[in-house]
Amino acid sequence: MSDSPIPKKVLLFGATGVIGKDIVKALVDAKADFEKIAIFTSPGTAESKKEKLDALKAEGVQVVLGDVNSEEDVKKAFADYDTVISALGRNVILTQIPLLDIAEAAPSIHTFYPSEYGTDIEYGPESPNEPPHQLKLKVRKHIRENIKKLNITYLVTGPYSDLYIGKLAIAPQAGTFDVKEKNAVLCGTGDDPVSFTTMGDVGKLLVAALKTPQTEPVRTLKVNSFTATPHEILSEFEKQTGSKWDVSYTSLEDLKKAEKKAWEEKSPIATVFTLRRIWTEGGTLYETRDNGKIGDPPLETLEEQVKKAVETEIPGFQSGRL
Ligand SMILES: NC(=O)c1ccc[n+]([C@@H]2O[C@H](COP(=O)([O-])OP(=O)(O)OC[C@H]3O[C@@H](n4cnc5c(N)ncnc54)[C@H](OP(=O)(O)O)[C@@H]3O)[C@@H](O)[C@H]2O)c1
Repeated sequence: MSDSPIPKKVLLFGATGVIGKDIVKALVDAKADFEKIAIFTSPGTAESKKEKLDALKAEGVQVVLGDVNSEEDVKKAFADYDTVISALGRNVILTQIPLLDIAEAAPSIHTFYPSEYGTDIEYGPESPNEPPHQLKLKVRKHIRENIKKLNITYLVTGPYSDLYIGKLAIAPQAGTFDVKEKNAVLCGTGDDPVSFTTMGDVGKLLVAALKTPQTEPVRTLKVNSFTATPHEILSEFEKQTGSKWDVSYTSLEDLKKAEKKAWEEKSPIATVFTLRRIWTEGGTLYETRDNGKIGDPPLETLEEQVKKAVETEIPGFQSGRL
């Protein structure tokens, strides 16, 4: 394959969501590199998040209103763009299948970024059985079997450090850092390294990927900001807050038990337990990372990330729709 065309007219889905807001910020920061930046959203979001959308419009972002489930609305929107970036939430991951089909048939669209930005769903032999991966795996299967024209990039970032080092009030036993109380619950032994990307860096890495032509039709980029163990995160918090914290641990075995119970009880945060178990087991670690393939953009450090958490309490679990 010759190098893919560089995206110039980009349309983002899920722009006001947990990660979508950082992606749109990074696109705006790099607006000189694009001819057109737009978001596709519903009239409902346009009304409920009017201020946010007005701020984006003031930055030159176009707002395309429509129903993500309407073929007509989506087809019409795609006519003016060459690249689709999806940051749709976990609950609507399968909506991307019709979006991909419409993009495949749209003459102007050459590039599609499915909503990934997380744990590698094809990491190892256990990956196909992990419940949180199922819908994204279906999207990848659909792409393998049906998408021939589009250039696809899966941006695999691992966990967002912002959330991991936040206060997980909803389930502290799955790991939490509480700056006000100066206490933490660490997963595993505390010495198991996890590869993290900050939410701001997800946007920066995505822009770097957009600016780097693809040499293969389907590209998986495994990127991160930094790797750290829970103990290293804790000691950075202790350094920045000037005193020792109270610490307890949830062993891998206990994490697995809590995970099993959460799935049995159909808890809305069962996914959080599974992902934290995967991360604690080392399911984010790679021999090499792909930042260099997209120009090695400057990224945040653990120290900077902890500084932000010390300044403003970050909830460890967020959803654009909860
Ligand atoms: N690595 C990590 O630690 C981590 C953490 C969280 C998420 N993620 C990943 O990041 C991606 C995005 O997740 P997110 O948490 O940012 O998503 P989210 O905030 O839950 O939702 C993102 C957007 O999806 C759209 N959406 C959601 N439900 C919808 C519905 N019923 N109908 C129409 N549109 C709907 C909305 O778009 P509008 O803005 O247009 O209303 C919403 O803002 C996912 O692939 C997720 O797995 C990774």
